[in-house]
Amino acid sequence: MFELKVLSEPNIVSTAQVPDDFSLSYSSARAQASVLSDGFGRIHHYLRISLVEHCNLRCSYCMPEEGLEWTSHEELLTDGEIIRLARLFVGQGVKKIRLTGGEPLLRSGIGKIVEELGALPGLQTLAMTTNALLLKRKLPALRAGGLNLINISLDTLQPDRFKEITRRDGLGLVLEAIDHAIELGYSPLKVNCVVMRGVNEDEIVDFAEFTRRRPIEVRFIEFMPFDGNRWNEDKLVPYNEMLRMIRRVYPMESLHTSRKETAKMYKVSGFLGRIGFITSMTDHFCEGCNRLRITADGHLKVCLFGRSEVNLRGAMRGGAEDQDLLELISTAVGGKHARHAGMHLIAASKNRPMITIGG
Ligand SMILES: C[S@@+](CC[C@H](N)C(=O)[O-])C[C@H]1O[C@@H](n2cnc3c(N)ncnc32)[C@H](O)[C@@H]1O
Repeated sequence: MFELKVLSEPNIVSTAQVPDDFSLSYSSARAQASVLSDGFGRIHHYLRISLVEHCNLRCSYCMPEEGLEWTSHEELLTDGEIIRLARLFVGQGVKKIRLTGGEPLLRSGIGKIVEELGALPGLQTLAMTTNALLLKRKLPALRAGGLNLINISLDTLQPDRFKEITRRDGLGLVLEAIDHAIELGYSPLKVNCVVMRGVNEDEIVDFAEFTRRRPIEVRFIEFMPFDGNRWNEDKLVPYNEMLRMIRRVYPMESLHTSRKETAKMYKVSGFLGRIGFITSMTDHFCEGCNRLRITADGHLKVCLFGRSEVNLRGAMRGGAEDQDLLELISTAVGGKHARHAGMHLIAASKNRPMITIGG
């Protein structure tokens, strides 16, 4: 009745038998299991919702240089559809929702969306990943609406380089937004920095210094391959190398995070903030993955690097009841694979560009 699009998945690995037939037949075993648990015992408490595809920056590692065919407005989820899906997921045990994009602050009506999500009973964390260009002005209302965690993306502390990487001006606005969020009590405020060789790896120590007096968590992200972003292994700076670069200058303590955590956490002794490494490429953390993603056009993705998608928007617009949606979601989550198959296979296979997935 509803579309479940499952493509062959060269870029993710299953260590268990995954059925060839992903039809919508809802086996009694799956029906008894929680809708958000997969075949490897992972329970998905964390949902990322992309609110828009557009962005006010043009970072080449995120958005194809040749541009994109944007999805038409009618094909993007409406506010009502976003809230309906969020309510459904929270009803199944999701505790954390992150709003992303594109640039989520470009979504008109963002204040109202945050307010409605913030009021969902059972939701503990309402987070946003943003480039922060529009954040300072909007933050007080978003905070009042229930936004309680913020990740700000920032790959350089140098104004000229900011312009080169993003093809726009704006470093000053981002730094102001960081200070403002700290003043409003966001702690830790997370700062995401994608590290690319020949682009910004010479600023790793400066970013570590940035944590000296600020209650922030700088998270260095290994550069990941997505469609159209010209990834190659030479541009990837493995986390071990980043760690060595900082250790040459500062004594770093490990905060002994578990292998299953997304970020390996450290801190420079005596500094207020902390430093994390997101090592998706050189040391994956798939076994602890508890995330699901809904794209701005309403497709559920169970793995960032996987091609399989379930068109929840189509199902909703085709008249699906909540129970129908839950069955689609359960089948998709149940078919999630054990882990991704490594950066080379990911780089060689098709996926969406990051800007249309929502990081
Ligand atoms: C796609 S952006 C969307 C949200 C918002 N516009 C922002 O800039 O934070 C979300 C995150 O994905 C990260 N990202 C994008 N492309 C990436 C890549 N190729 N490798 C690693 N991280 C990437 C960005 O740096 C950002 O922190």
